[in-house]
Amino acid sequence: MTDKLIIFDTTLRDGEQSPGASMTKEEKLRIARQLDKLGVDVIEAGFAAASPGDADAINSIAKVIERSTVCSLARASEKDVRAAGEAIKPAKHGRIHTFIATSPIHMQHKLRMSPDEVVSRAVQAVKWAREYTDDVEFSAEDAVRSDIDFLVRIFDEVIKAGAKTLNVPDTVGYSIPLLWGERFKQLIARVPNSDKVIWSTHCHNDLGMASANSLAAVMNGARQVECTINGLGERAGNASLEEIVMAVKTRRDVFTCDTNIDTTQIVPTSKLVSSITGYPVQPNKAIVGANAFAHESGIHQDGVLKHRETYEIMRAEDVGWGANKLSLGKLSGRNAFRTRLQELGIVLGSEDALNAAFARFKDLADRKSEIFDEDIQALVSDEEVTQLSDYFRLVSMGAHSETGKLPVARVIMSVGGKEHQADAQGGGPVDATFKAIEQIVKSETELLLYSVNNITSGTDAQGEVTVRLAKGGRVVNGQGADTDIVVASAKAYLNALNKLDTGMDRAHPQV
Ligand code: KIV
Ligand code: ZN
Repeated sequence: MTDKLIIFDTTLRDGEQSPGASMTKEEKLRIARQLDKLGVDVIEAGFAAASPGDADAINSIAKVIERSTVCSLARASEKDVRAAGEAIKPAKHGRIHTFIATSPIHMQHKLRMSPDEVVSRAVQAVKWAREYTDDVEFSAEDAVRSDIDFLVRIFDEVIKAGAKTLNVPDTVGYSIPLLWGERFKQLIARVPNSDKVIWSTHCHNDLGMASANSLAAVMNGARQVECTINGLGERAGNASLEEIVMAVKTRRDVFTCDTNIDTTQIVPTSKLVSSITGYPVQPNKAIVGANAFAHESGIHQDGVLKHRETYEIMRAEDVGWGANKLSLGKLSGRNAFRTRLQELGIVLGSEDALNAAFARFKDLADRKSEIFDEDIQALVSDEEVTQLSDYFRLVSMGAHSETGKLPVARVIMSVGGKEHQADAQGGGPVDATFKAIEQIVKSETELLLYSVNNITSGTDAQGEVTVRLAKGGRVVNGQGADTDIVVASAKAYLNALNKLDTGMDRAHPQV
């Protein structure tokens, strides 16, 4: 008999806490639909009290997702819990996840509360949450550095108040598998009625052990794992969903539980999250990295050709590699385009948006012979970005580089509807383009990151550029895609400027 292991995905909440990874409502909806298709049990859709925009995004996700449970995070305060309760109200299955820190260092320096006050706030928060839903989760933030006797006490009290899932986070990524497994064993043995609740693990990756620690918890009784796609998340990230799911599936001899995940959706979900957040996946990343199933050395290739299992413990097709269909071509019409969008779970807001996306598709098909699903995702993202905010918009540009000469670029762009032109020289065509843009906008931003990745293979592939800009304490990622990477770079830079221009202030749950 195998138990069910609940997969709680927090890409849209803890993942979004990565620098610059904040997403628009439309982007969150696209990821939520894909997570539902992937088969995650719980989607943590955000932190409702962060801002009215965050509450609205959770509410919109709650309206459309039918299978997965939709959850909002809430600090242990009445305002937060009620904001979460309202946001998840339309959900078919809704959860409130409330938390408070329990370690001496957090209680003393961050909360400035006594242990007794912390227990009573936790109990009260769970009771408020139960006014909205029976599905209430409680987390003891920084459980890794909390006193075990205090954890037993607070968990006992919140169970009595009505919590159904108890989450034990390694907030700072400090534990090691042996100790994390032991912590679960002790908690489950000591907390009264521990068999009436689901025990959950939430691990950060500061020492590179988030997945290993999560799996140690599972081996010691945890039946929910909190994780993110591609391990996205605060600092070094969270436990990565794909690693947890595939470890449990591949090592059936060790784990007595299994998940509901449709593993063939793992790679498409990874690519979608990477393209929306602007966080590329490292090539040697387990499961979803481009090299995860590539065999470079001759000996390995020979072995794999003779008998696949000599060097492969999983099949690439089982996690969704190779599933990227040759979607459409130059001759595909509007209806074929619309149908493929539907199959990909992409819902465009209006006929106008569909027409604009179709025009972009035709333009791309003129420059690229084969259009893949990833190309369509990228052009829809590009179109959404333009529709939402185009205060700074690229009208046209040209760049020239020649050996022995300084590269030059000319940019014509619109600023709030008015056209401007600038010419600049730079170290390379991208540098010259950014300098030309800056001559016009004078943004005084700091460029923190510039990266280019190919969306599909081949020299005619679209390049996807991420530009991370910082100004006045705010950090944003801008993305742009084009078969010409200098144009993609200009689009990404303007996208980041637009985000800085329109972004609103949001509260961080853990600060
Ligand atoms: O890492 C953490 O402790 C969290 C909590 C809010 C669950 O993300
Ligand atoms: Zn976390």
